Amino acid sequence: MAEILSNIQVSPGVFRMKIAGKYEGRAGQFYMLRGSRIEPLLSRPLSIFDLSDHYIEFLYQVVGEGTHLFAGLKRGDSLNLVGPLGNGFPVLEGRIALVGGGIGIAPLYYAARQMVASDVFLGFREEAYLVREFSSVCSRIQVRVGGSILDEVVFEDYDYIFVCGPTGMLKAAGQRQAERHYTGNLFVSVENKMACGIGACLVCSVKVPGGTKRACVEGPVFLAKEVDFDD
Ligand code: FES
Repeated sequence: MAEILSNIQVSPGVFRMKIAGKYEGRAGQFYMLRGSRIEPLLSRPLSIFDLSDHYIEFLYQVVGEGTHLFAGLKRGDSLNLVGPLGNGFPVLEGRIALVGGGIGIAPLYYAARQMVASDVFLGFREEAYLVREFSSVCSRIQVRVGGSILDEVVFEDYDYIFVCGPTGMLKAAGQRQAERHYTGNLFVSVENKMACGIGACLVCSVKVPGGTKRACVEGPVFLAKEVDFDD
């Protein structure tokens, strides 16, 4: 069991939760979290927002019963954590863009801390949040409220682009890659539903040419060209 140090609302329906302890993990990996005394019993996958020697942080949006219950937890309450899970982002050098839409920004803070020369693009539907925190860890930041943050990204300026957000945004990024004949590496982090988190249930399957892959084991980070978004 792990103790919650804080669980703060940073924007309507979006919470930043800090949990005590020393945890492992790369940017883009996730943990399965489950409350000790609360239903539902199924764990919920949350991306690593940040890590230190003394705590791990998660950023999450209240979208269902599980995250609604997380939002009610207070300092001193406890949770079960299993992880780190998934493949995470490769740590690369070069011209890097980290692009997040909505709660898709969650894994990008830790990624920006690891890939220090990266440019960060954050897109929000109604209200920006955590911009000052991101500004402190990246070389350049661009924020957009409303519309598509992808419009701000000049693909050709980058060797590597990471996109995290809803499926429609990931699909749009893949389409732009094709339209612009972008020859760099475009990675996407999928937000597929998960149940077990360890490769057993296949709930998180991602369609790829010739079959499927499990977002919780082979992903959630894929090269965009590997994913069949038309499924
Ligand atoms: Fe069960 Fe991925 S969540 S196989």
